Amino acid sequence: MKFIWKHIRPYIKDFYKFYKLFIGFTYDFKRFVLYSGWRNNMKDAEQRNYFSVLVYHALEKSMSYKNRNADSGWKNAYKLLDLLKIANKYNNVGYHDKAAKQVLETFINLPENREHEKSKQIKQELKTIQFNSTDKHGAIKLNQKEYQQGILENPEAFFFSRYSLREFKDAIVPNEIISRAVKLAMKTPSVCNRQPWHIYHTNNKCVKDTILKYQSGNKPFGEKIPNLMIISIDLKAFFLAEEHYEYWIDGGMFSMSLIYAFHALGIATCPLNWSTPPSQDRLLRKEVDICPHHTIVMLLAIGYPDASNITCASARRPLDEIYTQIRER
Ligand SMILES: Cc1cc2nc3c(=O)[nH]c(=O)nc-3n(C[C@H](O)[C@H](O)[C@H](O)COP(=O)(O)O)c2cc1C
Repeated sequence: MKFIWKHIRPYIKDFYKFYKLFIGFTYDFKRFVLYSGWRNNMKDAEQRNYFSVLVYHALEKSMSYKNRNADSGWKNAYKLLDLLKIANKYNNVGYHDKAAKQVLETFINLPENREHEKSKQIKQELKTIQFNSTDKHGAIKLNQKEYQQGILENPEAFFFSRYSLREFKDAIVPNEIISRAVKLAMKTPSVCNRQPWHIYHTNNKCVKDTILKYQSGNKPFGEKIPNLMIISIDLKAFFLAEEHYEYWIDGGMFSMSLIYAFHALGIATCPLNWSTPPSQDRLLRKEVDICPHHTIVMLLAIGYPDASNITCASARRPLDEIYTQIRER
């Protein structure tokens, strides 16, 4: 008996790992099928707005090239018109619906399109659509000086002074600073500019404790975290099977921007993994109001750095271990 057990034991461990992997993938797959936008339900305002930006962004790109193809864009122009009519009919207009209208108007008024029969027809149909955006959409001009305003005098000082801190001052970071950091992070690029992020924030002790009891990496510092965020992604923003990993990418990129935004404002952070089994994710959702179609990417602990801090050195590998120059074959 001992002999058999000795031989099957390693396989049982492997099988258990495989089982957990299977459960994790199945959970993500099920959530994608249930909540993503693959059925293209354009009556749903959220789905339609994500789809609108996908379409109008293609027109924005077309209008942004120095030598644009004068015949391009009409298919997307008609798609936008259809989406605008749906928004109008169901009277559930969102940000991207308004932006879409402005982009379409700009497109049909391009010098090469203005006299086109199609432009006249679209213009006529747009008369019934009353909503407008107050922001600027389409293509914009940007000179080199404007673009290079982002140059840092000492980028090393900025990047190399960020560390994940796990202990903070007791003071809570005020909402104005939290909102400012989120606004800065919203400049993060996202696929077709869909901006599928949703950020949950709390500084309430009870809520923080409830969330953190399902997170595996916050001991022993979790109970003293002043502000806590859940960074999530709206699955409704994803329409194609090929996009089934895109939300992790968009979520990861946003998270990093947010961390750097806080760093630029002098606020310390520590990312907290949400690599939890599906059961933990489900339990959290029973206790905290998180929209079913929002997938949690990670949590973020936030607080003021102490006058004196101790943290992990977390040294970085040498560049040649992670960098390869691709050569011609
Ligand atoms: C997605 C992600 C999840 C993380 N989860 C945890 C965590 O659960 N607990 C923790 O103490 N640190 C966590 N960290 C912080 C890492 O340990 C830390 O970023 C890494 O050691 C590099 O150190 P630095 O951030 O100070 O440069 C996480 C980091 C990332 C990016």
